[in-house]
Amino acid sequence: MNYSRIIGTGSYLPDKVLTNQDLEKMVDTTDQWIRERTGINKRHIAAENETTCDLAEHASRKAMEAAGKSPADIDLIVLATTTPDQVFPSTACLLQSRLDIHGSPAFDVQAVCTGFIYAMGVADNFIRAGSAKCALVVGAETFSRIINWKDRDTCVLFGDGAGAVVLEASDEPGILSTHLHADGDYASLLQVPDGVSRGYEKVRDNAAFVEMRGNEVFKMAVNTLGRIVDETLEKNGLEKADIDWLIPHQANIRIINATARKLGMSMDHVVVTVHDHGNTSAASVPLAFDVAVREGRIKRGETLLMEAFGGGFTWGSVLVKY
Ligand code: UT7
Repeated sequence: MNYSRIIGTGSYLPDKVLTNQDLEKMVDTTDQWIRERTGINKRHIAAENETTCDLAEHASRKAMEAAGKSPADIDLIVLATTTPDQVFPSTACLLQSRLDIHGSPAFDVQAVCTGFIYAMGVADNFIRAGSAKCALVVGAETFSRIINWKDRDTCVLFGDGAGAVVLEASDEPGILSTHLHADGDYASLLQVPDGVSRGYEKVRDNAAFVEMRGNEVFKMAVNTLGRIVDETLEKNGLEKADIDWLIPHQANIRIINATARKLGMSMDHVVVTVHDHGNTSAASVPLAFDVAVREGRIKRGETLLMEAFGGGFTWGSVLVKY
């Protein structure tokens, strides 16, 4: 069993929808600015009593159902989130209990928008090493909880949601390669400055919320994602034309367009959900993936490139023979 194969996908979006028109009433912005600069029309926002684990549970149940797997089959849970329900237990452990799974390792991965790519890398290595046979890999966020809803620079960009996949050990490919990177020197460009050990509301006002120097992050994201595409193709001895589908992190349509241009791909082979979901951080890639799978666009045997860039900075890719 040399590979891990994706055998089921699922996703979930909270009911509440926040449109650009709603945001026009909250901050000094316009629908036109948001659409032209980001591609976003609307995003989903968790209800007051709805947590990251709630979203993760819905997405996971759908992925397990699609995979035809019961709780007893799952022997690893890796959950990517920046917005856990509690300091501890991890959201992965809370999810494990909800799903009536017992004894398997379950832990969170924190790589902000690259979280799902990191979680896939970790789970794939567990399976390749023979340490797990059937892994539930989740990206789930209630990013709305760390947004300053008075800051027009950031509040128009993000949304809540969850996506999940079930990976199974297989002799057939499978995940072909995973590529994970980070450079911690860039914290000041994209961060939430407060935290558990520094204290909340102690650093300065509004430090419990996302701060971003958007334009600088934008340029870094475009360049870095271009490089990760080259690295992934080179490692696998593939040409651009060998990629059937690009499933990018959904932060900004202009960043997605730039990566598609780099690959020479037409946009009808790029999964785009940013207009409906906004940036859901760790949930964005698995959400987009599940949407395209359930719409029947992505077919078995096709070659998929998933990629993401986010706070840390972190970035990475997963190449999949689906
Ligand atoms: O997922 C993690 C990685 N995150 C990203 O990849 C996000 C990367 N960054 C971006 O997507 C873009 O940089 C933004 C969408 C955040 C901003 O777009 P931009 O084209 O880089 O705009 P900008 O930051 O250069 O700002 C242009 C103008 C500014 O006004 P002045 O200084 O030119 O007068 C901003 O104050 O747009 C203004 N602005 C807004 N105007 C209306 C900023 N936010 C808004 C807003 N509505 N919501």
